[in-house]
Amino acid sequence: MKKIILDVDTGVDDAIAIMLGIGDPTIEIIGITTVTGNVGVDRAFENSCRIVRYFGQEQKIPVYYGARENLFERSVRAFEVHGEDGLNGMLPDLSYNNTKRPAITWLIEQIKKFPNEITFVGTAPITNLALAVKLAPEIIPLIKEVILMTGAFEFPGNVTSTAEFNAYAAPIALQIILDTGFQSLKLIGLDVTTKVLLSQESINKIQDPETCDFLLALTSNYRKLYQRLYNLNGCAMHDPLALGIAIDASFCGFEHVQVSMELKGEHTYGQTVLNRHTKNKNALVATSVETERVINYLVSQLNRLKIVKTKREITKLH
Ligand code: BDR
Ligand code: CA
Repeated sequence: MKKIILDVDTGVDDAIAIMLGIGDPTIEIIGITTVTGNVGVDRAFENSCRIVRYFGQEQKIPVYYGARENLFERSVRAFEVHGEDGLNGMLPDLSYNNTKRPAITWLIEQIKKFPNEITFVGTAPITNLALAVKLAPEIIPLIKEVILMTGAFEFPGNVTSTAEFNAYAAPIALQIILDTGFQSLKLIGLDVTTKVLLSQESINKIQDPETCDFLLALTSNYRKLYQRLYNLNGCAMHDPLALGIAIDASFCGFEHVQVSMELKGEHTYGQTVLNRHTKNKNALVATSVETERVINYLVSQLNRLKIVKTKREITKLH
């Protein structure tokens, strides 16, 4: 089974990525690391613990506490998308048992423990991994693959007209990652993630009424925002697509290019600048996506989540 570490700033779509990870029986999420992003790290940690608990995986999927601040961050949060609490008001009273164990040392340990086995999927500002490679560069050749939801390449940004949220929140961390020289680095940006829309109709295909209602409520504000701002039916599945790529890379088409961060521009700070005309390529950037296939896959895996109401446990329906 593919071993995955999921690095999140939970967030509505991060929460759905965690749910996808729980639902898909072909992968093993060996742990979740959290970081400041959509919400502060305390809330990202709490939200991740709650999602894992709600779906009965508390004993199986540990959650770790990562960086409080991003590398030279321009303070940016995404409350208007995810709500003040990051989960659109869901699960406010659900208790959990996790203590705040440090993410970065755990990350380093796991990569050493499972050389060439771990796929790291980052759906947040990429500070935790950047700090890990600076602390322990010997882990670099041991990571099988790094897949990040980040960037806006030939598509407008969502924080500024040129910068995507995760890239803008930790551009120096992202430049560190781009300079690292991983065996494989895939960047899944707004160019493709904004095409994968989860609509009310798709959510209604989920048979378990509790999971279906949970998803409808979790995404309600996010879906309204997409309707109001872009006149689109459904909200973008940025983070689930990044995890989906770890499972089936053929969901997207990729181009091998060089990506550099804009770190100085007054209007372009945080932009992911793509260069095709160089031999120094450092990343595979997703340029196309099979939208319908991804949504069908996502719904089918979410359909495996069945909340056993009394025990608050999940059973995987095989
Ligand atoms: C990214 O920013 C966050 O708001 C989402 O969770 C996603 O990771 C999209 O730009
Ligand atoms: Ca995220």
